[in-house]
Amino acid sequence: MKRNIVVIGAGVVGGATGKGFLSKGHRVVFCDTSGEVRAKYAAEGNEVCKDYYLPDFDISMICVNTPTHRNKIQYAYLEQAIEELGTRLADISSYHLVSVRCTMLPGTTEELVIPMLEYYSHKKAGEDFGVCVNPEFLREATAEDDTAHPWAVVIGANDERAAKELKNIYEPFTSNIYLTDIKVAEMMKYAHNMFNATKISFFNEVHTVCQNLGIDSGTISSLVAQSAEGMWNPEYGIKGGRPYGGTCLPKDTRAFRTFARDLGLGDMTLLDAVIRVNEEMGEPVEGWEEIRTQKDYEVALNTDTMDTIK
Ligand SMILES: NC(=O)c1ccc[n+]([C@@H]2O[C@H](COP(=O)([O-])OP(=O)(O)OC[C@H]3O[C@@H](n4cnc5c(N)ncnc54)[C@H](O)[C@@H]3O)[C@@H](O)[C@H]2O)c1
Repeated sequence: MKRNIVVIGAGVVGGATGKGFLSKGHRVVFCDTSGEVRAKYAAEGNEVCKDYYLPDFDISMICVNTPTHRNKIQYAYLEQAIEELGTRLADISSYHLVSVRCTMLPGTTEELVIPMLEYYSHKKAGEDFGVCVNPEFLREATAEDDTAHPWAVVIGANDERAAKELKNIYEPFTSNIYLTDIKVAEMMKYAHNMFNATKISFFNEVHTVCQNLGIDSGTISSLVAQSAEGMWNPEYGIKGGRPYGGTCLPKDTRAFRTFARDLGLGDMTLLDAVIRVNEEMGEPVEGWEEIRTQKDYEVALNTDTMDTIK
C-alpha cells in the first residue's frame, strides 16, 4: 500500500531515504529548516515543506543531524524536531508512525524521544502513534544507491503494529529485515560503526609498521583479507564474553608487540589494547577450540533479541 511519508531533515540520510521511498511509488515530502536545502529539493521537482504538516501523512522519518560537541552527542536538532512533530501529532486523529533514523545513544528513544512526543501530543506511544528506530547504514559517498539496495534493514520497535507498518514499506527493498527492541537497534548502530572504525584502525597500524619495515602494506592487507578467518567468516569471533585462546593468538600478538617495540617500528596502540582486553576477559573457557569446530558461531546472530520477521 502506498504511504504518505514526510522526511524531517533532508540531508544525506533524509535525502537518500526519501528518494528511495519515492522510487517505490510512495508520496514523499522533504521537510527541512534550511531554505537552501528546501530550494535544492524543490528545484528537482520534489514536494518540500518547512512546517511539519501531518493531517494526511502516515509516516514521519526523522533524519536530523545528531552532532557531537566536546565528544558528547548533541540532541538540540532532534529535540526541536520532536517538539514540533509532537505538537502536530496532537491535531491528527489517525494512527501515525514516527521512525527515527538518526544515530542516537542507547536509551535515547525511550528516555527522550517517546516522552517528548507524548508530552507535546498528549497521546500515548504504542496506542495513538507508533515509534520505531530504524538506523541507517549507508556510506556517504554512495548514499542513494546504498539506500536503494540495503544489505540489511533493522527495525527497533516496542510494539508490533509499528514494526509491521515499517516492515511493509521496506519489503520491496530487501528480505533481510530484522525486528528487534528499540534499545538494541540504537546500540547495534554504534557497534556497527565502532567495528568499522576498529577495522580501519587495525590496518592503519599494520600499514605504519609495514612502512617502517619497508614492506608493501597493500599486499599484506589484501592477503589477510583472504586468509584471516575473521575476514571471510562473518560468524568468527562475534560471540561476546569469551577471550581468544588456542596456541597462536595469545603468543603471536605478544611476540609481535615485543618485536615492534624493540625495533621502534611505531606505536601499536591498538594491539596493546587488544592484548589488554583479552587478558581482562580471564582464561579461555574449556573446550573453546572444540566449540569453534562445532560451529557454535552459528547461534551467534543473537537469536534471543533479533528475529527475522516472517
Ligand atoms: N551521513 C552519513 O553517512 C550517515 C550515515 C548513517 C547515519 N547517519 C546519521 O543520520 C542522521 C542524519 O545525518 P545526515 O548526515 O543526513 O545529516 P545532515 O547534516 O546531512 O542533514 C541533516 C538535515 O537536517 C536538517 N535539520 C536540522 N534540524 C531540523 C529540524 N528540526 N527540522 C527539520 N530539518 C532539520 C538540517 O538542515 C540538515 O539538512 C545523524 O544522526 C547521523 O549521525 C549519517
